[in-house]
Formats: sequence, structure tokens, C-alpha cells
Amino acid sequence: LASTEFDLTKVADGQQVTLKWRGKPLFVRNRTPAEIQKAVADDGASMKDPQKDAERVKPGKAQWLVLIGSCTHLGCVPTFGGGDYGGWFCPCHGSHYDTSGRIRKGPAPLNLAVPEYEFLSDTKVKIG
Ligand code: FES
Repeated sequence: LASTEFDLTKVADGQQVTLKWRGKPLFVRNRTPAEIQKAVADDGASMKDPQKDAERVKPGKAQWLVLIGSCTHLGCVPTFGGGDYGGWFCPCHGSHYDTSGRIRKGPAPLNLAVPEYEFLSDTKVKIG
């Protein structure tokens, strides 16, 4: 399956770009320090799909969150900035994801998936 390269300079601080990858939306989010702090502060919270924020990003690159933008319930596209946890909200049946893309409330069973990716440089990632 095809991999794709993406130039991170296209994503301003606190913004997100949605790409299309393997037929699905892919979110590349440049998180603010507050978003990262909130995610890390919740690492110990009770969750359906427990994962620490650090397991969802690359070492030293906590501002970059790369996610498959497909709700793990039935595949709708969640929107950022809604829900009870300051992250993504899926309007289809009300799943709330936090600023790490972890499922916190609602019917979705799993966190928003992090695809395989690597940094080719500070400003370029290869996804897939
Ligand atoms: Fe997202 Fe059902 S598809 S909550």
C-alpha cells in the first residue's frame, strides 16, 4: 500500500490539516502546549482503550498528532473542538475523544488510530 510524504510546515500552531490517505481522512494536528498538557494530565484516567499520550506521538515530537480521522464506532469523521474532553467529537452517535484522540465517552470502542509514520526531518513525515 502506498505511503505518502507530508510537509508539516503547512500546519500552523494549534491547527490541523486533513489529508486523504488510503481512502480515509487523516488528521495531522499541530497541538498547542495546553492540548498536550491536558492529554498528559489525563494519562491515568480510566479509559476504554488505555494508552498514554506519549505512546501516541513520537519522542520529542509531542506537538504532532497523526490520526486516522475515522470514528472507531461506525466510521464517521469526528470534528475537532467539540465534546467534553477538548478534542474530537463524532456527531453521528456522540463519541467524545480527548486531545490525544483517545476515546473518553460514547459508543466508540477504541482510540482514533495512529497510523505507521516516521519523521524524515523536522518538517517532513512519511505516513505508511
Ligand atoms: Fe462515531 Fe458512531 S460513528 S459515534
